Amino acid sequence: MTAADTQGAVTAAETKGVQTRSDAVAEVAVVGAGLMGAALARALADAGHHVRIWNRTPERAQKLAAERLRPVRTIQEAVSSADLVIACTASYDTTRAALAPVTDWGEAALVNLGTGTPEETEAMAEWAGERQLPYLDGSLLCFPDFVGSPDTLILYAGEPGVWERHQSVLRALGGGSRFLSEQVRAACVVETAVIGSFYVTAVGAYVEAATYAQSQGVSAEMMRDATRLVLRTLGRSTKEAAAAIESGEHATDQATLATYANGARHCLSALRADGHQARLLAAAVENLEAARAAGLGELGIYAQTGIVHGPADPPHAPEHPESPGAAP
Ligand SMILES: NC(=O)c1ccc[n+]([C@@H]2O[C@H](COP(=O)([O-])OP(=O)(O)OC[C@H]3O[C@@H](n4cnc5c(N)ncnc54)[C@H](OP(=O)(O)O)[C@@H]3O)[C@@H](O)[C@H]2O)c1
Repeated sequence: MTAADTQGAVTAAETKGVQTRSDAVAEVAVVGAGLMGAALARALADAGHHVRIWNRTPERAQKLAAERLRPVRTIQEAVSSADLVIACTASYDTTRAALAPVTDWGEAALVNLGTGTPEETEAMAEWAGERQLPYLDGSLLCFPDFVGSPDTLILYAGEPGVWERHQSVLRALGGGSRFLSEQVRAACVVETAVIGSFYVTAVGAYVEAATYAQSQGVSAEMMRDATRLVLRTLGRSTKEAAAAIESGEHATDQATLATYANGARHCLSALRADGHQARLLAAAVENLEAARAAGLGELGIYAQTGIVHGPADPPHAPEHPESPGAAP
């Protein structure tokens, strides 16, 4: 921390309209000047903190030079006198490789914001522990454009003391950020579920859908209009699904799982007839059919939670429906 700067900097990233107030200006090292690392460094500098940025390819860091944002050539130079080291490289392995040459961590705490598996968060915490380095593991639930915004959510897990000491700095990256748990894997588990398992699949499914629709002459504007209502329903469905899975209550008076299965098989037939692979829709049909085969057909669609855990069945190509069913 720079003693001269402890009057309480009002932090304002004008371009994002962030109105975070930090208690003090911090010395922050950012490791990684990729798309995300660059956004993190800029948001911290915009918030009034002093940032040193290191990148494996130095030219990428050099391009970011600005007021309060200083590219440095060596990782030790970045880390020296830092209160907080924020790493965001391609993987946990690359972050460890980047940090390996550091011999003196001073008073710094380490926060890793790169993506990995829950197991990797634990290995990283162990690595930090071997160096007496306080550690927090973070999960970015956003694109670089959202970094520094008041409602951006970045989740943290690990040593609560690191969060308590540095939360005002970390909130400059996302005003809605939260500490979840002392279990260092906790934030990564949420990212794995919400971004990896859900968002990536949902976007992929939409790409399949829009490709099919446009091949049938449906305009992008029509797709946008039709999607708007479905997105509202999806918002409701995600809330209902999480609640149903938690409670185990799967009765429905709206649409049974069997109805969805029939409808989805019709849709799959339509896409396949037009030469589309529809891999994600096929996977959804496979889940629904497995749930129906397990006797869950008369329950609601979220009852397929009963078949998603455990060894996978051998993959099979969904057959054409024998009798027409109502589309959900
Ligand atoms: N972009 C997003 O929307 C987003 C959202 C959430 C989470 N994330 C996560 O944030 C992390 C960075 O993503 P990004 O979008 O910034 O990726 P990126 O633009 O591809 O940047 C990758 C960064 O990792 C560095 N790197 C790669 N291999 C390295 C090695 N062996 N040693 C040292 N540094 C190495 C790169 O350095 P060089 O420049 O030298 O190659 C660069 O700084 C990833 O874990 C990603 O999953 C990104």
